[in-house]
Amino acid sequence: MNANSRPVHSNQSSVHDQLHALVAKHAAMAFRKPFSKVNLEAFTTSIAAWKAYGDAPLILDAGCGVGLSTRKLAQAFAESFVIGVDQSADRLSRDVRWTADLPENFITVRADLVDYWRLMLSERIYPQQHYLLYPNPWPKKSHLGRRWHGHAIFPVLVALGGRIECRSNWKTYIDEFASSLHQFSGIAVHSETFDSAAEEALTPFEAKYASSGHTLWRCSTELLPRPSITKTFVNS
Ligand SMILES: C[S@@+](CC[C@H](N)C(=O)[O-])C[C@H]1O[C@@H](n2cnc3c(N)ncnc32)[C@H](O)[C@@H]1O
Repeated sequence: MNANSRPVHSNQSSVHDQLHALVAKHAAMAFRKPFSKVNLEAFTTSIAAWKAYGDAPLILDAGCGVGLSTRKLAQAFAESFVIGVDQSADRLSRDVRWTADLPENFITVRADLVDYWRLMLSERIYPQQHYLLYPNPWPKKSHLGRRWHGHAIFPVLVALGGRIECRSNWKTYIDEFASSLHQFSGIAVHSETFDSAAEEALTPFEAKYASSGHTLWRCSTELLPRPSITKTFVNS
């Protein structure tokens, strides 16, 4: 285990002063980029796998990396079906060290989440749980628009509803994510720390940060799906 990962270094020490305005702009803006064929195929394959499993409650592991968390969530929530989505073919193809029997209630697919999330909304497929585990922090102040809550796709994540949880080793990322969730939903969402022993970590990044002694942060809340925004964000 790599125990010498450096904490996130940023020229931003608290919630970005432009975050509220950017989130408000995205909430009011249409975003109808065409879907790519690759993402459509990945979506169709993964949703068919879920349906073949019997329409079990759906868990989305967004940005699943090597898919270790997808497998662990599938094992922890045996009555659910877990879809892990990542854009990196390299990460998805890595051999994850996994000693226990592989559960059957999961699939991992290569797709860009910007399409995948909108496809879910367009098909009115709402996850019961939605994980964003250690998204790329994009720590420079000028990177705000690349963080998920600063991206034009953020209203779609919120509209999908369900129990959403984001984790990071950068407190500011979680403070911003929580603040943006609150801005959309009106629900008070708080950042909190939690302990993770490296060997029990849900993801490889969590294991790396835990063994390097980083403080781990997360926020979560329960959202209602909002099908009414679909027209604004989905290409028909
Ligand atoms: C820092 S890694 C974390 C991976 C994993 N969740 C973990 O904790 O080990 C962030 C992941 O998000 C994925 N990612 C970033 N942008 C994405 C996008 N637009 N669509 C799909 N995956 C994306 C990257 O390929 C990468 O695997």
